[in-house]
Amino acid sequence: MNRKQLITKYIEFFKSKKHKEIPNASLIPANDPTVLFTTAGMHPLVPFLLGEKHPLGKRLVNVQRCIRTGDIEDVGDDFHLTFFEMLGNWSLGDYFKEEAIKMTFEFHTKVLGIPLKRYAVTCFSGNKNAKRDEESESIWLSLGIPKERIAFLESDNWWGPAGNTGPCGPCTEQFYYTGEKPPKKFNPEDKKWVEIGNDVLMQFVKNEKGNYEEAKQKNIDFGGGVERTLAVLNGFDDNYLTEIWQPLIKEIEKLSKKKYEENKKEFRIIADHIKASVFILAEKIAPSNVERGYVLRRLIRRAVRYARVLGIQNDFTKALAETATKLYPDYTILKENERFILEEIEKEENRFRQCIASGLRYFENIAKGKRISGKDAFLLYQSYGFPLELTQEMANEKNMEVDILGYEKEESEHRKLSQTASAGRFKSGLADNSEATTKLHTIAHLMLAALRQVLKKPIEQKGSNITAERLRFDFNFDRKLDEKEVREVEEVVNRAISEKLEVKREELSLEQAKKQGATGVFEDKYREKVSVYTICDSKKTISKEICAGPHVSNLSELGKFRIKEQESVGAGVRRIKAVLI
Ligand code: ALA
Repeated sequence: MNRKQLITKYIEFFKSKKHKEIPNASLIPANDPTVLFTTAGMHPLVPFLLGEKHPLGKRLVNVQRCIRTGDIEDVGDDFHLTFFEMLGNWSLGDYFKEEAIKMTFEFHTKVLGIPLKRYAVTCFSGNKNAKRDEESESIWLSLGIPKERIAFLESDNWWGPAGNTGPCGPCTEQFYYTGEKPPKKFNPEDKKWVEIGNDVLMQFVKNEKGNYEEAKQKNIDFGGGVERTLAVLNGFDDNYLTEIWQPLIKEIEKLSKKKYEENKKEFRIIADHIKASVFILAEKIAPSNVERGYVLRRLIRRAVRYARVLGIQNDFTKALAETATKLYPDYTILKENERFILEEIEKEENRFRQCIASGLRYFENIAKGKRISGKDAFLLYQSYGFPLELTQEMANEKNMEVDILGYEKEESEHRKLSQTASAGRFKSGLADNSEATTKLHTIAHLMLAALRQVLKKPIEQKGSNITAERLRFDFNFDRKLDEKEVREVEEVVNRAISEKLEVKREELSLEQAKKQGATGVFEDKYREKVSVYTICDSKKTISKEICAGPHVSNLSELGKFRIKEQESVGAGVRRIKAVLI
């Protein structure tokens, strides 16, 4: 059975039970500001689960795309996925337990043909919020499920709410045994039992105080994972062996010349993260340092990191994103936004690639002892573009931890310094390794060299601040540059740009770097190895600086350089604001 057949069978079956099909909604929840993404099929239905009248009636069915970000670091194991599709059917105050369980059972055993010997269920064992669900148990018993195939659990059998508040309740879940010989007794701890469905018996609403109130309307919310159902129906105990993953896996095998069987974790992470990124990008979200854009950035950068582990040297995200898009021809948004998806994913890969090697080396230098300091973790983020979570994951691999409080302190100090944070979002230059800021980082080096050349003085950088719009650069000098000097500085920089010179990066010890005449103002931040960025023309070295980057790799990527403003910022220190046009 393939994905399309599974979905069609499901929708048709519930239509035959008088359900109306509703659209597969956006991944951006329209009604719930407490979460970033749609995490379940019921999510877009919250107002209707709370009692609002749905225009299509009280019985609904669909397949819904979902993103769950809580487990990104766990993706790579047998179960966790970031993006998945959910089969869903609902009763909005219509049928309840008995009919729901009977329909689920009929779908699983009759429509999908799952044999009883591979089937088991769980029910809610009860707690202070709700009593033990013996009613569901007796319905399952009446359908022929033996007592030893019914387990009672507490927290696993309570579902929701999807965000901080909203409809929730006890649930009863269905499992499929993927091993050879199904045991008589069901053990929910045995990983061979895979959950394929969940009927949530929505009787409660969690309020803002965190209390559970009896719901005015009792609903059913069924959810079943497409990926895992497809896997078990095809006799696999691994989702990634199905047709909705294999083209990605095969492509990664080609790119890395490695085998999936020997590198499951890396393959799974790359495939999952690229697929999830494609669906986030399809919502016209671009990578950024906040909210959904940040989740997207984390996904792409984590995929890039694992691609390096597999030895994939070349750009790969675009090719995989194209493959992922083809896997889902029924999602027209993928086709409609294909250009945006492919361009943005590639840009983000390139941005990270420019600093990942030096970032990883920096990490190796600091990853000694038990703890990564907040300062170092923040530097990894700010200068090398390593999301905090990535640094944490790498630290965990070495049995180390990251000083999160220290990181947050650095972050807030940086925010205060840059004075550009609005509503908790980073807008400042250094926190943002976007294409525009990367270019301006390189311009800072070129401009320093040009100032030295034109003013014939040992000019030093006294500070800089970069946003996507402009470069602000402070240096030691005691007067305003005259018009001629301004033009000359611009010319020197623009000439280097027009010569399409290469920006070379090397990793050197601080001593070697200094011996080679590299300068830099942030030396005290660095340990043994530093990155040195060199720009040479055919005759001489134009610039050689110790710097954490990021930088463009060729000056041809820059536009035209212009000095916009000059001012004094204290005795002997001048400030220039410059732009690329
Ligand atoms: N909303 C339920 C779930 O996500 C069905 O499992």
